[in-house]
Amino acid sequence: MEGRMGWVVKVSLLVAVAGLLQGSVNAQGTVHVVGGSLGWIVPPGGPIAYSTWAANQTFVVGDVLVFNFTNGSHDVVEVSKPEFDSCNATNSSNTIMTMSPANYTLGGAGSRYFICTFQRHCSLGQKLAINITATSPSPVPVPAPSPSIAEAPSDAPTRSPVTYTVGDAAGWNVLAGGATPYQLWAANKTFMVGDTLVFNFVNRTHDVAEVSKAAFNSCNTNTTISLSTNPPVRIVLTTPGEHYYTCTFSGHCSLGQKLAINVIGTSTSATPPSSTPGATPPSSSATPPPPPSSATTPTGTPSTPSPPPPPPASSASSLGITGLTVAVLSIVTMALMY
Ligand SMILES: *[C@@H]1O[C@H](CO)[C@@H](O)[C@H](O)[C@H]1NC(C)=O
Ligand SMILES: *[C@@H]1O[C@H](CO)[C@@H](O)[C@H](O)[C@H]1NC(C)=O
Ligand SMILES: *[C@@H]1O[C@H](CO)[C@@H](O)[C@H](O)[C@H]1NC(C)=O
Ligand SMILES: *[C@@H]1O[C@H](CO)[C@@H](O)[C@H](O)[C@H]1NC(C)=O
Ligand SMILES: *[C@@H]1O[C@H](CO)[C@@H](O)[C@H](O)[C@H]1NC(C)=O
Ligand SMILES: *[C@@H]1O[C@H](CO)[C@@H](O)[C@H](O)[C@H]1NC(C)=O
Ligand SMILES: *[C@@H]1O[C@H](CO)[C@@H](O)[C@H](O)[C@H]1NC(C)=O
Ligand SMILES: *[C@@H]1O[C@H](CO)[C@@H](O)[C@H](O)[C@H]1NC(C)=O
Ligand SMILES: *[C@@H]1O[C@H](CO)[C@@H](O)[C@H](O)[C@H]1NC(C)=O
Ligand SMILES: *[C@@H]1O[C@H](CO)[C@@H](O)[C@H](O)[C@H]1NC(C)=O
Repeated sequence: MEGRMGWVVKVSLLVAVAGLLQGSVNAQGTVHVVGGSLGWIVPPGGPIAYSTWAANQTFVVGDVLVFNFTNGSHDVVEVSKPEFDSCNATNSSNTIMTMSPANYTLGGAGSRYFICTFQRHCSLGQKLAINITATSPSPVPVPAPSPSIAEAPSDAPTRSPVTYTVGDAAGWNVLAGGATPYQLWAANKTFMVGDTLVFNFVNRTHDVAEVSKAAFNSCNTNTTISLSTNPPVRIVLTTPGEHYYTCTFSGHCSLGQKLAINVIGTSTSATPPSSTPGATPPSSSATPPPPPSSATTPTGTPSTPSPPPPPPASSASSLGITGLTVAVLSIVTMALMY
């Protein structure tokens, strides 16, 4: 029925459409609103908020960073890596951007570092490090910088331990929006030694693995620090610093079922987890004391065998683009059939 030429035309058309899609993706500089809906603030959880945000972006020359903040309460200046690490902008010759939105066009490949010069904002976590690639052939997962979390606020409040329900009503799931919902959930919370995380999910449809930062970024869950399978999973935060959690079910991590938090330790506050039901935790997201021992508390079980490994780390934006491409190609293909 179909002549050979017909197929040639169709294939050419398909290739052309694919090329157009590719071109349109690369042509316009992507606008990155720094921190997403969090904006440019002092994140209560420390610099991990911006490092996890950046880890989920691909920065290409020509893209624009938009720093969104309250005029007079923050600013933005590009600094060198040593200045970024030490939170010292006094030697920076770069212009301090004081008006929001502060737009910064990525002019060349390489690393860029930004901080807020307001007193202590940087050391409290208002700092951003990014890697920029020259072109966008394939999404480059940007490894998160090692945030300097050394300077915990010396006037850190001591308070009763808080029980946090991860994701609140959404629970521990693969959510629409990828990792963003968990980033936002964690972003305005303060996690302290002695607090408890509760992961709610349907039995045998998810699990909770604490993993290394590298495993978190790459979504390779072959090796875990601990693995808990029996919901609700309760994890008591016993050590300060960054903690990374994900699900080892195939693909779940890459789809955004992952949580990074920064735990603040205070010298005096290592009170054991609340056993006093009367105590009212200050956070609105605290939940009442949970049922007793149906929970599994991970005790450092090393390298528990995992379910089938998830596919290699792929940024969801690439998934999105691929999906779009497939969708458009399907439509074109169908159109050509008739
Ligand atoms: C900047 O923040 C304000 C207030 O949170 C918000 O209304 C606005 O949409 C944000 N702008 C961008 C570009 O995200
Ligand atoms: C910041 O760096 C400048 C030199 O660039 C130095 O003179 C100053 O002492 C530093 N400040 C702090 C607090 O480290
Ligand atoms: C300040 O910056 C200049 C040039 O950017 C550099 O030569 C100098 O060593 C820096 N000083 C300090 C103390 O870092
Ligand atoms: C900040 O100030 C500039 C200049 O006055 C203004 O255009 C802008 O809307 C202000 N941004 C915010 C978030 O208030
Ligand atoms: C900065 O970027 C935002 C978001 O793309 C845009 O609305 C705004 O007009 C830009 N501002 C300037 C001064 O370019
Ligand atoms: C940028 O890339 C370099 C080399 O790959 C890496 O060492 C560094 O950690 C990256 N920085 C950020 C902010 O991702
Ligand atoms: C990255 O963020 C987007 C939304 O901005 C989200 O859809 C996507 O799932 C996230 N990807 C990862 C790997 O976290
Ligand atoms: C965090 O944000 C949520 C939703 O925006 C809000 O309901 C909650 O009160 C905030 N919690 C804190 C501690 O600010
Ligand atoms: C979850 O499933 C496992 C294995 O089937 C079972 O042993 C366990 O009791 C279940 N837990 C809950 C809370 O239903
Ligand atoms: C994870 O383990 C499986 C089976 O041992 C192996 O085939 C796979 O290559 C490992 N994945 C990574 C990323 O190391």
